[in-house]
Amino acid sequence: MAKRVVSGQRPTGRLHLGHYFGTLQNWVKLQDKYECLFFVADWHALTTKYDDVGEIANDIREMIADWLAIGLDPRKCFMYKQSDIPEVAELYVYLSMITPVSWLERNPTYKEMLEEITEKDVSTVGFLSYPVLQTADIILPRGELVPVGEDQLPHVELGREIVRRFNHLYGEYFVEPQALLSPVKRLLGIDGRKMSKSYGNAIYLSDDPNIIRNKVNQMITDPARKRKIDPGRPEACMVVYPTHEVYTPPEELEEIERNCREATWGCMECKRQLADRIVDSLATFRERRAGIEREPGVVDEVLREGLHQVRPICRATIRDVRERLNIL
Ligand code: TRP
Ligand code: SF4
Repeated sequence: MAKRVVSGQRPTGRLHLGHYFGTLQNWVKLQDKYECLFFVADWHALTTKYDDVGEIANDIREMIADWLAIGLDPRKCFMYKQSDIPEVAELYVYLSMITPVSWLERNPTYKEMLEEITEKDVSTVGFLSYPVLQTADIILPRGELVPVGEDQLPHVELGREIVRRFNHLYGEYFVEPQALLSPVKRLLGIDGRKMSKSYGNAIYLSDDPNIIRNKVNQMITDPARKRKIDPGRPEACMVVYPTHEVYTPPEELEEIERNCREATWGCMECKRQLADRIVDSLATFRERRAGIEREPGVVDEVLREGLHQVRPICRATIRDVRERLNIL
């Protein structure tokens, strides 16, 4: 039987190319190989957005519409909302009782984020225990594999430690979930920093072709290449060339490199070609997205069906857990 994959994404609204190459491309492939459960981690969104909840419901809808349009298929995987499953919160309570605070405090992601987030107070219980909630997400529906990026590895590792502790205290029950590290392609924002909604440097999957072209035109090139007759250096080209590397097969990449070094083309042409590739690669996405916008009910339906399939598994787990904890 296929192993069970569980993974979640915080609802950030419309998704950008960074999300695609970091997560979704991988999820779309996994749904053919494994039994996949993908959920919206809306409670996790509250760890940093507790003071800004107005858009969460809309962000969830936009994100699910993007999931469907990019190719997550409700006939192949289950999609649901974390907050539709109260058993997640219940398991979180039990796990929080057995997780030492010191494990959470030494989590490198936690330490980094504490320093990074200065605009609001995140010295909350919820923020500290983020990985405990994440562990509940994974083991409640008995996930075996967790596709995540490298930044999430410490969270999965912590989850394994919590599982060991649970099993030690209450008898072998949960299987230690395993991280499934996927080959991710790093995508830069148009300004050369990491692509991120908060930096305002992202190209969204649902951007109109003319907006995509506009954004590609703003991408940073080789700063030393001022005129079209100056030879360029792909290795010094800050955003356009690295993005070509993600979109262009190696054979054709050589030609782009030659055109740049020998100044056979200017940066404008080079960008036009890149914009074409990005726009073309999203043709099917745009079609499906437009279909979903005409029929927004499909989003609710997909979430309802996902919940209907996953909830019974979660209920069964909680029944077993309660029995072990003598909460009868
Ligand atoms: N922490 C993950 C992220 O920020 C999201 C997430 C929440 C998750 N729960 C999860 C991922 C469970 C995998 C499994 O990307
Ligand atoms: Fe970058 Fe292309 Fe300009 Fe060369 S031609 S510097 S690769 S944008």
